[in-house]
Amino acid sequence: MNKIAQIFQSLDYGPAPEGPEQANAWLDSHSRKFGHFIDGVWTKPGKTFSSDNPANGESLAQISDGTAEDVNAAVKAARAAFKPWSALSGYERGKYLYAIARAIQKHSRLFAVLETMDNGKPIRESRDVDIPLVARHFYHHAGWAQHLAREFPDAVPYGVCGQIIPWNFPLLMLAWKIAPALAAGNTVVLKPAEFTSLTALLFAEICERVGLPKGVVNIVTGEGDTGAAIVNHPDIDKIAFTGSTEVGKIIRAATAGTGKGLSLELGGKSPYLVFEDADIDSAIEGLVDAIWFNQGQVCCAGSRLLVQESIEERFITKLKTRMASLRVGDPLDKSIDIGALVAPVQVERIRDLMKKGVAEGAEVYEPDGQLPARGCFLKPALVTKVSPANTLVAEEVFGPVLVAMSFRTPEEAVALANNTKYGLAATIWSENINLALDIAPKIKAGVVWINGTNNFDAAVGFGGYKESGFGREGGRDGMSSYLKPAWEKDLKPAPVAKAVAAKPANPLDASHLDQTAKMYIGGKQARPDSGYSRPVLGPKGDLIGEVGDGNRKDIRNAVEASRAALGWSTTAAHSRAQILYFLAENLDYRRDEFAARIKAQTGEDGAEEVALSVERLFAFAGWADKYDGAVHNPPLRAVAAAMVEPLGVMGIVAPAALPLLGSVALIAPALAMGNTVVLVPSSQSPLSMTDLYQVMETSDVPSGVVNIVTGDSVALAKTLAEHDGVDALWFAGSADASTMVEKASITNLKQTWTSRGLNYDLSDRRFEGDYFLAKATQVKNVWIPYGA
Ligand code: NAI
Ligand code: MG
Repeated sequence: MNKIAQIFQSLDYGPAPEGPEQANAWLDSHSRKFGHFIDGVWTKPGKTFSSDNPANGESLAQISDGTAEDVNAAVKAARAAFKPWSALSGYERGKYLYAIARAIQKHSRLFAVLETMDNGKPIRESRDVDIPLVARHFYHHAGWAQHLAREFPDAVPYGVCGQIIPWNFPLLMLAWKIAPALAAGNTVVLKPAEFTSLTALLFAEICERVGLPKGVVNIVTGEGDTGAAIVNHPDIDKIAFTGSTEVGKIIRAATAGTGKGLSLELGGKSPYLVFEDADIDSAIEGLVDAIWFNQGQVCCAGSRLLVQESIEERFITKLKTRMASLRVGDPLDKSIDIGALVAPVQVERIRDLMKKGVAEGAEVYEPDGQLPARGCFLKPALVTKVSPANTLVAEEVFGPVLVAMSFRTPEEAVALANNTKYGLAATIWSENINLALDIAPKIKAGVVWINGTNNFDAAVGFGGYKESGFGREGGRDGMSSYLKPAWEKDLKPAPVAKAVAAKPANPLDASHLDQTAKMYIGGKQARPDSGYSRPVLGPKGDLIGEVGDGNRKDIRNAVEASRAALGWSTTAAHSRAQILYFLAENLDYRRDEFAARIKAQTGEDGAEEVALSVERLFAFAGWADKYDGAVHNPPLRAVAAAMVEPLGVMGIVAPAALPLLGSVALIAPALAMGNTVVLVPSSQSPLSMTDLYQVMETSDVPSGVVNIVTGDSVALAKTLAEHDGVDALWFAGSADASTMVEKASITNLKQTWTSRGLNYDLSDRRFEGDYFLAKATQVKNVWIPYGA
């Protein structure tokens, strides 16, 4: 038989290798040994380690292991470059970004091959997905640079940004970090992941070639220690990290109290929901992209299949058939579906997790066929017969391993989908648009794909809910992660409140007061669990009242009540606005009484504070139905609806000063956006807020939407910070206590805002706008395809 006839007989694929020659020539031209790129210069290689090709275990090059001195030199260069770089016009900065985009496109084949050799991902993916998205990212952000001043008029760049990225999308993560940082006028010190530094080094050479000013981009290679040196460097203004949740938490703790900006893009265990009316064949193809794209080493991988019971059997059978035709092998082969995992240690990690899952009762299906004799290869795996507690359901595997479970009703689908500490992404398959768009808002995740999966675009924000991190990358939201309000740098330390000594009092005087103001939990007045109360003193130390001394148990009850009241988040914005207006109006009726109460507590004439509080409630009532989302137009047949959603339950610890406005200015934006609140009012002057709940009761504020626990601010803040039922925490208080709050918040990675002992004057009308609205919300991007 001739060869063609043979091929027709077997229908086997022939090899279609992409040539490594160009990449090898580039490596050779550097003698396969690299230093760091600091201040526009290549340093002499120091102590090095090898970057390997995981498909064959061969060493590609020696990479320098960055020391604290290297990091220091890079930060110094970035600091020196910051002034001139941020002083350039947006147009000038944009031109550099544009030049980088052009150069990447021009050398896209070299970049793609090098990426595949270093990382093991199929060339089909690096060539058709990673590198085109990198170029798109720089083009997109060239535009943001030019329009910055117009679009973000009161914002300034952070300064020097430390950026630490993972190995799964080495160049793409670099682009997601560097493009917006530079567009905003920051300079950067970036550390690529230790397994995959080569395309970052090639990128540095591109920066050199396009004449990017020295020190604007610095690349320091190395391992975790090098990353930690960046995180802990005192002259870095913002840290941006993508990687494991574990390291994310370390970084959150390390940056606590430093005032450094922080964005974290962490792990996931994203659900992939298939409803019975889905186009099953498309859903199967989508699933291949969801979990076997990049060998499953994707933070937003659709690693948890949830399929409706009525179609489960048919779906799983089809899936197994499809899995059997996936080709695992040489990543440089253009017709390979699944390449190599990044490193032997990851293969081991995945195998261990699978063993554990099997020991816990899981069943694993892998298609027949041989894996290549050497290299980091694993077969695609389907895991069934699992309970929600199985390790493979709960943990991020970061490999080609899909777990499957079923559901009966849409409600059950949502409950299962949300039954995870993560919240990065989700996929929904249904031909019923009403159903799909009903489910999307109910899923706690930063990205939701409908009838598609793993779509990314520079114009569309990406980032997580819950323990998947905070901050967005891409589009307008991503730009704002690299900017801060210009006025923040001028904040002075908050005046320290004078402690007043209690006047010696006759105990009989106190007992005749007999008006310990109750706390307010779940719409009811509540006595403190401890049974104790705290004195409230007037400006001269005279006892003017008492409040409950709240403790851990009171906070727990208040959080429970707030969670039970989360229906508030889906109450129409118009209705929330009406309730806030009503509250404002009722407060205004009682303005004299409230002014007198402020005067009794602080000695200040309270009339202006009451008036401002009414005005603030009006302001946020006005915002409730206006601070909303956008529709993005990515370059494919889809729109991405950027929906502004509340964070959930917010803990709010009000400042000592401004007994009424200090609380109102913080709860009003939170409530307007649909959050429920556990409020700790001023420790010193809590009576204005315990008065206010009587006004709330007459203003139709639903039970549990605002809960008030009085007591020691710092102690209660700690309890709120440690409580996993609290999604976000705002704290106004000392620098030390702010550090404590940020550190204590790591268990569920709640988003925090702290005043760090600075004088955020809440009576300023600058706080009537998006400053707190942005902090009270998170953006979910829902991708909706079109076309028949
Ligand atoms: P990792 O989180 O340790 O590494 C990510 C980056 O952080 C690398 O550049 C690393 O050098 C750096 N790093 C490590 N320790 C650091 C520290 N203490 N301070 C500052 N930087 C530090 O992730 P790793 O160990 O490479 O992978 C382990 C697992 O993490 C994976 O199996 C996967 O489950 C998860 N992961 C998730 C990613 C995501 O995008 N969601 C990306 C990478 C890993
Ligand atoms: Mg490598």
